[in-house]
Amino acid sequence: MPISLTYRLSTALISAVAVVSLAFAFFQTRADTLGLRRDLEDHAQVLAESLVRSAEPLVARHANRELRRLVDRFKDREQIAGILVYDASGTPLATTPGLARRVEQNPDLFLQPGAEVKPVNKFVKLASGTIHVVSLPLHADDDMVIGDLSLFHDAAYIDLQAAAMWRRAFTGVIIQTILIVAVTLLTLRWGVGRPLRRMADWLHHLRMGSGANPPNMPDQGEFEPLTREVRRLASSLTEARAAAENEARLRDLGESSWSPERLRVFVQTRLGGSRLFAVSNREPYEHSHQTGGIECSVPASGLVTAMEPILRACDGTWVAQGTGDADRDTVDEFDRVRVPPDHPQYSLRRVWLTEEEEQGFYFGFANEGVWPLCHIAHTRPLFRIEDWEYYQAVNRKFADALLEEMEFEDSPVVLMQDYHFALLPRLIKAARPDARVAIFWHIPWPNPEAFGICPWQSELLDGLLGADLIGFHLQAHCNNFLDTVGRALESRIEREDFAVHRNGHASLVRPFPISVAGAFEELSAPRELTHPERGGLLDKLGVRASFLGIGVDRVDYTKGIPERFRAIERFFEKYPAYRQELTFVQIGSPSRTQIRRYQELMDEVVQEAERINYRFQTRDWKPIVFLNRHHSHKEILQYYRTADFCLVTSLHDGMNLVAKEFVASRYDLQGVLILSRFAGASHELGDAVSVNPYDTEQMADSICQALEMRPEERRMRMQRMRVTVREHNVYRWAGRLIEALCETRPAKVPGAPYLVPTAMTRSAS
Ligand code: F6P
Repeated sequence: MPISLTYRLSTALISAVAVVSLAFAFFQTRADTLGLRRDLEDHAQVLAESLVRSAEPLVARHANRELRRLVDRFKDREQIAGILVYDASGTPLATTPGLARRVEQNPDLFLQPGAEVKPVNKFVKLASGTIHVVSLPLHADDDMVIGDLSLFHDAAYIDLQAAAMWRRAFTGVIIQTILIVAVTLLTLRWGVGRPLRRMADWLHHLRMGSGANPPNMPDQGEFEPLTREVRRLASSLTEARAAAENEARLRDLGESSWSPERLRVFVQTRLGGSRLFAVSNREPYEHSHQTGGIECSVPASGLVTAMEPILRACDGTWVAQGTGDADRDTVDEFDRVRVPPDHPQYSLRRVWLTEEEEQGFYFGFANEGVWPLCHIAHTRPLFRIEDWEYYQAVNRKFADALLEEMEFEDSPVVLMQDYHFALLPRLIKAARPDARVAIFWHIPWPNPEAFGICPWQSELLDGLLGADLIGFHLQAHCNNFLDTVGRALESRIEREDFAVHRNGHASLVRPFPISVAGAFEELSAPRELTHPERGGLLDKLGVRASFLGIGVDRVDYTKGIPERFRAIERFFEKYPAYRQELTFVQIGSPSRTQIRRYQELMDEVVQEAERINYRFQTRDWKPIVFLNRHHSHKEILQYYRTADFCLVTSLHDGMNLVAKEFVASRYDLQGVLILSRFAGASHELGDAVSVNPYDTEQMADSICQALEMRPEERRMRMQRMRVTVREHNVYRWAGRLIEALCETRPAKVPGAPYLVPTAMTRSAS
């Protein structure tokens, strides 16, 4: 704390404490002094009255000698200065020796002859000190006043005691003031000054770029908001510096990678002020009631991983289903909430579905119908008319919400996501022809024969063709889509341009391989996550091993998890030297658990892990650890960064972002990616060890190859893959998607006539 502040604080404290203490001391001393005076007055009155009773008969009888003896008896009594007795004419009859001299200069202490005799009880200040006098008249039997008796007390002791009390009180005031001021200043110094100094030092180090660890700052009570804001400020500063350094580095290398800043500028110039909207079924932040209050989590979803950085960069609006049990408690009256909760950067508009709607739309049509329809994983799609009706109804519900959000926006730009919303592009374009609409299909598109088994393939295709731009991960998916349209709908397909013309509207069809935020250098990584301890991680899981393999998936039959476990089993059969040396950790986030096929799969995965473990495990080692719960991104990073290899064995996958996240997290250029050739990511990550997940022998050998790969080769492969992930990051994905969308020509005037497909009109009634 600065000296001047301490000085000002101490002066103010000293003055305040001293004034208050002195006032208390004054009133206390005054009360004590008055008490002493009252005691003396009472005591003197009682004594004088008893003396009057003894003196009256003696004065009446003129027994002056006895009267003097009576007076002399009080000569040496403590504090009694003396007694004076007069007759009615004011002549002294008896006096305590020496008293007359003390009082003779004060004639009002004597009874004046002829004066009316009145009782007196008072203090008088004499030159020799304060004296107290009680004067009472003496009466004869017939009640005539025959004289007066005055009793004098020396009251100087009261003044002395008052002075002593004042001295004590004053010393007390000084000690009290010093103590209070000292304790307060020390408390401020330790409780406020030290944390503030620590905070200032830390901010200084951050500013200087030395990246010192955050100090142990108080984060309770009055400090909590300050500490929270300072931490946020520091993390924004670190992020901004990392981004700037990365930009500078790339500029230096002559590269032009996409970054959040570049995307933001790009979107602003391309959209010319139009607002960006995203729609998906899965929301990016889910609020739930927990024992400690409401908590916010990020669901396991590749779509969320990809879209989140774009919305952050452009401050758009994301419309999604509210699925958390505390979601309704965290939105405003328009069902909106700003996210991320710690550092709000864009709006989330939640849409509420009834249980029936969720069952029919999400579990039923989308995930028991379209999902297995598009993935060649040999799970039969189920199509039910009720599910289809809910699918249409929910697409309309999302359309209403989106139209509401876009109401006051000119030429909005909409990025629709995934197979849940095949009908949405048409619904939006019918109402807002000025909107530029893109839909990105995050899963594969199968060949026309496979897609043709869907009873509503025409409606789905027509809905999709409402979009100005239809995106897939791979060129092969675009080709399949065009072939499907060619077989199912009347339209004109321009193969050179990859465009479909229908009802006077053109839809471009393009591949945009989705990605993650990027593989930046170590400086942008949170420090505590860069050097995780493998031993510590495995210790927590209760196993000892020298090598670690990792798999991260939603528990979905397209991911090939049982196939992966069987490959690990085969690996231990073929390469027994690795028993007790390698543990494979499978993080499996439960997914779509209301669907029977997913329940069966979960049972199968658990049983396979148990069976294989039972075969090989020892007291402190097992081949497979299956972590059957949702893990945060931060938790997963620790495994990515310590694993010797990551196994991605999808039977069929649009892209698979786990593969790219693993590569992005390996700053150390270590770790081997084993990747299914049926995952879209294998088209870009040619340096992964490629496997066919149906080929158990090959997968077992690939695990051995990964473990025994020469460090130099591992490094080279990882380095090349990191360049790809860095260059082809999600900002580039969004930039290219938006660029292509802006090349389309939406109608300028709303209200162009549009024929709603018959199936949709039917179910709308
Ligand atoms: O792959 C399609 C997809 O929507 C992904 O984007 C996402 O990772 C996954 O499915 C999420 O599924 P759900 O939203 O059903 O949990």
